[in-house]
Amino acid sequence: MSKTLQAIRGMNDILPEQTPLWRYFEGTVAGLLDGYGYRQIRMPIVEFTDLFKRSIGEVTDIVEKEMYTFEDRNGDSLTLRPEGTAACVRAVLEHGLSGGGQVQKLWYMGPMFRHERPQKGRYRQFHQIGLEVFNLDGPDIDAELIVLTWRLWKLLGIRDAVTLELNSLGTSEARGRYREALVEFLTAHLDQIDEDSQRRLKTNPLRVLDTKHPETQAVLVNAPKLADYLDEESRVHFEGLKARLDAAGIPYVINPKLVRGLDYYSKTVFEWVTDKLGAQGTVCAGGRYDGLVEQMGGKPTPGVGFAMGIERLILLLETLEQVPESIARQVDVYLCAFGEQAELAGLTLAERLRDQVPGLRLMVNAGAGSFKSQFKKADKSGALYALILGDDELAQQVVGFKPLRGQGEQQNIAWSALADHLATCVVQG
Ligand code: HAM
Repeated sequence: MSKTLQAIRGMNDILPEQTPLWRYFEGTVAGLLDGYGYRQIRMPIVEFTDLFKRSIGEVTDIVEKEMYTFEDRNGDSLTLRPEGTAACVRAVLEHGLSGGGQVQKLWYMGPMFRHERPQKGRYRQFHQIGLEVFNLDGPDIDAELIVLTWRLWKLLGIRDAVTLELNSLGTSEARGRYREALVEFLTAHLDQIDEDSQRRLKTNPLRVLDTKHPETQAVLVNAPKLADYLDEESRVHFEGLKARLDAAGIPYVINPKLVRGLDYYSKTVFEWVTDKLGAQGTVCAGGRYDGLVEQMGGKPTPGVGFAMGIERLILLLETLEQVPESIARQVDVYLCAFGEQAELAGLTLAERLRDQVPGLRLMVNAGAGSFKSQFKKADKSGALYALILGDDELAQQVVGFKPLRGQGEQQNIAWSALADHLATCVVQG
């Protein structure tokens, strides 16, 4: 234990100043997904380690070096989930949700864990909202996933800052043929490629394609192209997706080097990237995984999905100053009561107002205090109005209604008229 109390590196508290923006973001996405008929699923945060090894792939960065794996008291090897797809497939299989060709359109949200080197936009506990669709194999659903994210970027005001990159990895047979050709080519140029790529050549050769190393990149210019190895079915599928994106007016860039860091993909892969966040520019990514369900022990079941990184999208909203002003205010009205009788009356009045004015955000002063101290707290709360209740107001069954942000003069309002007044000037206004 360190001397000063602190959170684990790369795992952040989301403080009260930040949660309104998180809730706005999560609420916007949830509302959007309701509008497309997606249903939420919640999976555990911990799963058997084997699940991730089998789905993400033994020789991926995630499984090789980034998982939080531990033995529990039964001696089982468990892992904090590094992503959501594997657990979602497990849940779908376990509960028979994809049986008989049933279509499932699911989404989930929550923390994921990867032991990466923390930096801006990259954390060890981060949050994703993910979507997974089962039993639809056509490009129409791939297009829908992209169309709905495009709509989300518009709702959030960040559409101009993101670019869609697309690729098709083909079927696993086509990819196998391509892998062989790539390995042959790179083996012939072994002395010209960097050490990490030499290692990847043995374990996961396709990952060499997204190397950042300039000399290896130069070698790759003449390497065989994945597109030339695509099987006919994948080619037609990819054309179908592109035609739909064209029809929807969604711009995209074909990136032949886009291979993704998880092994389960086939056919479509895509990433939404931004140049506004520095090195960690991928805000949303996914693709098709038609072989995964079968590989995990189920019947052949097409699947496609993506996940977005909430931290990165929040950073983008802040960077582009697209944080709606209205979300910063968390209190509409602050009730100040002076004296024991007024406090008692204030308590019942506040409860009645909460019944009568849905959506009202009313904070009641706690801890008594002088005029000055209660007004200070009212002001600090961010409320638009203070309600004042002292002995005089009590006797007349009114409250002092005091605008705190310069919207007019203080006036007395009868208790019986207060709910209507608040409904017009706070909730609707
Ligand atoms: P992924 O590309 O590993 O895919 O992660 C998706 C997104 O999560 C990334 O684009 C990024 O925005 C965010 N993300 C990933 N790692 C971190 C990190 N260390 N810190 C902050 N944000 C991060 C998947 O996880 C797949 N399960 C997506 C998927 C769903 N494919 C099909 N269905």
